[in-house]
Amino acid sequence: MGKQILLKNIDVPGLADFQVYRKLGGYTAVEKALKTLSPDQITEEVKKSGLKGRGGAGFPTGMKWSFIDKQSEKAKYLVCNYDESEPGTFKDRHIGKLNPHQLIEGMILGSYALGANTAYIYIRGELFYVLKILEKAIQEAYKNGFLGENILGTGYSLDLYCHPGAGAYICGEETALLESLEGKRGNPRIKPPFPAIVGLYGSPTVVNNVETIAALPWIVKNGYEAYAAIGIGNSKGTKLISACGHINKPGIYEIELGLPVEEFIYSDEYCGGIRNGNKLKAVVAGGSSVPILPASLILKTAAGEPRLMSYESLAEGGFQTGTMLGSGGFIVMDHTTCIVKNLLTFARFYRHESCGQCSPCREGTSWMEKILTRIENGQGTMKDIDLLVDIAKHVEGNTICPLGDAAAWPVASAIRHFREEFEEHVKLQKCPF
Ligand SMILES: Cc1cc2nc3c(=O)[nH]c(=O)nc-3n(C[C@H](O)[C@H](O)[C@H](O)COP(=O)(O)O)c2cc1C
Ligand code: SF4
Repeated sequence: MGKQILLKNIDVPGLADFQVYRKLGGYTAVEKALKTLSPDQITEEVKKSGLKGRGGAGFPTGMKWSFIDKQSEKAKYLVCNYDESEPGTFKDRHIGKLNPHQLIEGMILGSYALGANTAYIYIRGELFYVLKILEKAIQEAYKNGFLGENILGTGYSLDLYCHPGAGAYICGEETALLESLEGKRGNPRIKPPFPAIVGLYGSPTVVNNVETIAALPWIVKNGYEAYAAIGIGNSKGTKLISACGHINKPGIYEIELGLPVEEFIYSDEYCGGIRNGNKLKAVVAGGSSVPILPASLILKTAAGEPRLMSYESLAEGGFQTGTMLGSGGFIVMDHTTCIVKNLLTFARFYRHESCGQCSPCREGTSWMEKILTRIENGQGTMKDIDLLVDIAKHVEGNTICPLGDAAAWPVASAIRHFREEFEEHVKLQKCPF
């Protein structure tokens, strides 16, 4: 088994309890940071560790923190993105449910580094059971002097609040999240300015994913060199992968970045191979928003190199032959899967979740769903396939937030790699599956 950082103690009974977490070395990173390190030293540690944001875009965390204007007289905020609504992604809920103090410890470290005295965890409304666990853990942290006024007598103070969303996927987009947190409709903001300059209540703000924040205690405790020694290339550390679909062992796995995709799918340690010994057909490697790849391109790059679970290797070949690590939602499809039907399911989701602010996304997601419904029901024409490609091209890059791209990429990539299957639907005037 590879190095375990995030899930190391996850099976310890009662881990959500403060005393159990503390006995296992919990909150020692906060003690170390607040008593021996300056906020800038922590930012530097995180920068050098090579940690990238685990919410989907993979932006370097330390660099994002350094965009905060520390001299600004305004309050600074750290906001944890616990929206987790991307289809295929179900990793963050695991941390909050079983190891909430790891996230709280990470929130204290991040807030201290940013000079924030107030921090928020914005959690998806459907994860109400996790919210309850987190709120209890936050109360324990207050009671034991790790939150509130003058933490550990160091003069540093922090208040941490949980805020439930109302179940909209778009509220996972960081600026929509901030709007929602401010009590408004979750419409994404036009960027720039980015949240580091104008964020929550107009103040400098960092939004980070749950998994990103949960990695901080280990990095501060063990030092950046230890973290940077794990992984491959510019993909440092470990990554949670939520694996689902036609595999023998769906679940949440912590992998060292750089693990071969083939090993991840077929070894008993991870997915345990394809159900019923079926043939692998395709994989959506990073949540529903990333390009789908056929078996031939997910196991090996176009150049014939083994494909690895890393930011660089999955992206190898650009969108022509590659994809993205994204949020780590790994959806596996066997040879019985109808790609058109699968794509229609995604398209329906994006049409439903579009906030409707910009026309290419509002209209484009609706048209894509309608045309895919036609093709899947045997009423499509060959022209419809090109029309889909054309719509996807006009949506991509022409919207306020990346939801438009997220809707367009799956369509463009499915037709790029599985065009014959769309044509077969048209020729047969029905779904061949
Ligand atoms: C439509 C949409 C939904 C998103 N949903 C989430 C989400 O549920 N969780 C998350 O961490 N990031 C989500 N993101 C990415 C965030 O905008 C942001 O990049 C991320 O929270 C930054 O954290 P990180 O740097 O730690 O990855 C979403 C983005 C888009 C466009
Ligand atoms: S791309 Fe879609 S979800 Fe994003 S702002 Fe525009 S309409 Fe809203």
